[in-house]
Amino acid sequence: MITGQRMSDLIGQTDMVLIPSLSRLTGSEIFLKCEFQNPGGSIKDRAAKQLIEDAFARGELEPGMTVVEGTAGNTGIGLSLVAKSYGLKMLAVMPNDQAPEKERMIALHGGELMTVDPVPFKNENHFYHTARRYAEQRSDCWWANQFENTSNARAHYLHTGPEIWQQMGGKIDTFVSVAGTGGTIGGASKYFKEQDQAIDVWLADPDGSGIFEFLKAGEYVSHGSSMTEGIGIMRLVDNFKQAKIDHAVNLPDQDLVTLSRYVREHDGIVLGSSSALNVAGAVAAAAQKGPGQRIVTFACDLGERSASKLYNESYLKGKELSPEPEPIDQLLERYRQLGEKVIKTSWRGD
Ligand SMILES: Cc1ncc(COP(=O)(O)O)c(C=O)c1O
Repeated sequence: MITGQRMSDLIGQTDMVLIPSLSRLTGSEIFLKCEFQNPGGSIKDRAAKQLIEDAFARGELEPGMTVVEGTAGNTGIGLSLVAKSYGLKMLAVMPNDQAPEKERMIALHGGELMTVDPVPFKNENHFYHTARRYAEQRSDCWWANQFENTSNARAHYLHTGPEIWQQMGGKIDTFVSVAGTGGTIGGASKYFKEQDQAIDVWLADPDGSGIFEFLKAGEYVSHGSSMTEGIGIMRLVDNFKQAKIDHAVNLPDQDLVTLSRYVREHDGIVLGSSSALNVAGAVAAAAQKGPGQRIVTFACDLGERSASKLYNESYLKGKELSPEPEPIDQLLERYRQLGEKVIKTSWRGD
């Protein structure tokens, strides 16, 4: 069957798979929505497509123009791919400490790359401000603005959420997601709550992100750092505002090592680092709530994109992480007693 006339038509309609090992271990079914199946290899293809299609519909984009975006990489890959489908050019502005796997993919898709030093958001040389300034100074450029442009969350409200709802036959107890821009958790959780208020939405937040503390105490404060890329926010952005969140859990990078090795060994699933955090969040929810749940989360991108960090022993040692996974029963026992690492919240945003 021919399913599209251009590459961007292949975005979405991804498969859902059970993680057998962790489902057996926890007594709850844990499902993964396989977003690595998107043609650009990540969940961010969905945002890229919606951002560009909505901009065309509003008359902001015309063929021949250049899309400009500040990105940790995956949005840049998605936008490069969708830009080609629509006769556009793409310039990605990226901090220079991200995985080289992603820079290579942007170039392979014909995107131009500008790398900048990683600096705090308040510095005008941050990749976000650099991209905005570049686009604002040129009439043939359009700034995608994935943080504040709510076409991003709309992609997940219109497509990701409904696809999951249908694949799960309307039976979901718990939905777990990380947040980078909040587009995924914003759009999908809004859709789920409209279907069934009882669906328990969990945010999984890494060290180095301020969202957990924001939901707990109203202030963006972060501790430590994380190898996950494009995950966590230190400010309130419009896409995140759409999220409806019931629980948040803060988990360390060491657990991503343990869980990624466990599902690789037992299930043949090679998780990217944000996906490993999603799975850690799902196991935490299962451990806290007890057996019998149907839990859904995402494999956000290809594990290959984390080869130089999550799967690289010398990188892990340099970050003072052990390449040796913790015994899984020990991790599960710890997750039953997360204490202040898990909070109840009634964040309803907009
Ligand atoms: C691999 C991966 N997972 C998850 C996310 C976060 O998704 P969202 O921006 O929709 O919150 C990102 C964002 O860059 C990502 O690259």
